[in-house]
Amino acid sequence: MEFVTLNNGVKMPMLGYGVYQVDPAECERCVADAISVGYRSIDTAQAYYNEEGVGAAVAKSGVPREELFLTTKVWISNAGYEKARASIDESLRKLKTDYIDLLLIHQPFNDYYGTYRAMEEAYQAGKVRAIGVSNFYPDRLIDLCRFVEVPPAVNQVETHVFQQQAKAHEIMQKYGVQHESWGPFAEGRKDFFHNPVLTEIGAKYGKSSAQTALRFLLQSGVVVIPKSTHRERMEQNLDVFDFALSDGDMAAIRGLDEGESAFFSHYDPETVEFLTGLGK
Ligand SMILES: NC(=O)c1ccc[n+]([C@@H]2O[C@H](COP(=O)([O-])OP(=O)(O)OC[C@H]3O[C@@H](n4cnc5c(N)ncnc54)[C@H](OP(=O)(O)O)[C@@H]3O)[C@@H](O)[C@H]2O)c1
Repeated sequence: MEFVTLNNGVKMPMLGYGVYQVDPAECERCVADAISVGYRSIDTAQAYYNEEGVGAAVAKSGVPREELFLTTKVWISNAGYEKARASIDESLRKLKTDYIDLLLIHQPFNDYYGTYRAMEEAYQAGKVRAIGVSNFYPDRLIDLCRFVEVPPAVNQVETHVFQQQAKAHEIMQKYGVQHESWGPFAEGRKDFFHNPVLTEIGAKYGKSSAQTALRFLLQSGVVVIPKSTHRERMEQNLDVFDFALSDGDMAAIRGLDEGESAFFSHYDPETVEFLTGLGK
């Protein structure tokens, strides 16, 4: 495993396991499988309704807590100082842990400044080892960085070969914020796993399109958290540290960038109405 050192000195694995859309009933089994095949970083969120499954798997894993890296996120409906504060304690309870390694604001909506103040307080109290954001496009990220006491350590945004976020990456680097990808396979959209550029480059190294895509992000300095409910795919997605893409291959994959979301844009009023509606 490779690690990145965040802006407060905390070490974070470059590759973890994400549990978005993992059924709460199946989450404990999935996280137990992920830990048993070697994952040490798990990414969940209040809005995934599966923090309890993550906590149960971690508690039963036998892996010392300090060897694991747990991320969760405060949802829009828990925004604002008071609600966020209570929700952090609720997440700790569900995750069956004394501390969260990385706590993110899930979406840049509702009173996220109030949320951030509660997160800074939890950070100072030792309940959280690092704090950051998710889905903060450059405009909101810069604004936040300018007015908070504890600079965000991480920004988790949609990032994959079709939406590489080159400009956003530059801004994150400028402000000392680690870029983390969500949807590293674009959830399979655009026939991701059969993309000819990825499959042909991967074949040269004896790797799949999925492994090639993850390797591309890792070599671009982006943390990845692929999701799979299948144990053999979990193993495959972790097996990306024994090869390196050449400069030419990196350039060819950079050519896949479409510069726009495969899902939705947080600048689109309809998206904002949809997401804020979920937080009501
Ligand atoms: N902050 C946010 O707003 C946000 C939004 C989305 C996601 N996330 C985080 O990012 C994580 C990853 O993103 P994601 O879950 O949306 O999508 P993803 O990781 O891009 O794609 C997951 C999909 O790819 C399939 N898959 C995984 N490995 C594969 C392989 N080696 N070969 C073929 N198919 C494979 C999975 O199927 P099976 O499961 O059936 O194997 C699943 O359908 C999430 O779990 C979550 O933790 C955060």
